Amino acid sequence: MKRTEKTVYFDNASTTFPKAPGIGLAMADYLDNKGCNVGRGNYKWGYEVAEAVYKTRKKLCDLFQFKEGSDPSKNVIFTASVTEGLNLVIKGMLQPGDHVLVSGMEHNAVMRPLIFLESQGISFSVMPCDELGNLELEKIEPLIQTTTKAIIMTHSSNVCGTVLPIHEVSEICKKNHLNFVVDAAQTAGAFSINMSQTAIDALCFTGHKGLLGPQGIGGVIIKDALAEEMTGIIQGGTGSRSESFEMPDFLPDKFESGTLNLPGIYGLSKALDYLKEKGPENILKKELELTQQIISGVQDINNIKLIGIPNITGRSAVISLMSSEKDNAQVAFELDKDYGIMTRVGLHCAPLAHKTLGTYPKGTIRLSLGHFNTPEEVEYCLHALKSILK
Ligand SMILES: Cc1ncc(COP(=O)(O)O)c(C=O)c1O
Repeated sequence: MKRTEKTVYFDNASTTFPKAPGIGLAMADYLDNKGCNVGRGNYKWGYEVAEAVYKTRKKLCDLFQFKEGSDPSKNVIFTASVTEGLNLVIKGMLQPGDHVLVSGMEHNAVMRPLIFLESQGISFSVMPCDELGNLELEKIEPLIQTTTKAIIMTHSSNVCGTVLPIHEVSEICKKNHLNFVVDAAQTAGAFSINMSQTAIDALCFTGHKGLLGPQGIGGVIIKDALAEEMTGIIQGGTGSRSESFEMPDFLPDKFESGTLNLPGIYGLSKALDYLKEKGPENILKKELELTQQIISGVQDINNIKLIGIPNITGRSAVISLMSSEKDNAQVAFELDKDYGIMTRVGLHCAPLAHKTLGTYPKGTIRLSLGHFNTPEEVEYCLHALKSILK
């Protein structure tokens, strides 16, 4: 059964692979044949690139059903990643004395900026989740203080796949006049996120995971009201209002200084076309079928424990396992070395989530499935785990 030439990629929660077909060509086409900047030069190529960037913003508004004024595309702020988007919102929104709520399943992309801001008089409380990662909704409102400004929450755990109830939390935010900031790193592309129905003030996304685009491009879709009260965290050239030493006060320029990642935007645009063609609901369905196959299969394997929800209701295709006999890292090492199966082991940049799940500090072996994985690959992995753990 040992075959080193075979490779199986089960690290899609880190970054998806393969990406959507054609994104490399779209990026190369921009670099080789257009290559100029946007919003800087008034010439034909510049207009063409500006049109492509505008269309990408529009595709994102369509995907997330975002509507705001006559041109919601201006509310799409491009960043390098969801980490940069979350920093932009967290640091731009919060003032000394403010308090926010986060879930017990957050990634360090939320936790580290908040811990950093503690020295500036900004505080946070953790909304508890149970040992499967489910948010305990009834415990949220008692945590709200007079200084609470927002709830910042991941849509799905990057450790165990538990999906958090963004709609219910958005209702709590509405009732208590709080901003709602969602980290959609693990759900954008596969899960339906409808900003017309769910009151999200800032949706932070990354291009290289479920959106099947390249690394280095992400963003925030932000409502006007929140954008108006925020300050930018990076100041510089925008190509607009060059006579002023101050940043423009209109979107997206208020938060987009410096040259955009244009190859990344061309790649993301192509990926968004692919997602539209496939339909996020079909992508999720397939990913969850594979997830079910793993969940059922590991029940027959000795010395391994599934962490998180033991079925596919309320979860994404991220599966965490814990080995009771062998060291987790040894299992992951053997999966890679002897079977060519790539997984991720450890704390996955989310120590808070592991504390919630009771897997801190050891961490877990994470298998994260993607749109291009197959039932044969899952079967092969289950056989490999059986052999390694026998
Ligand atoms: C829930 C969550 N938030 C944030 C991030 C950070 O993503 P990026 O590295 O694209 O900024 C990740 C990546 O693993 C994640 O899973």
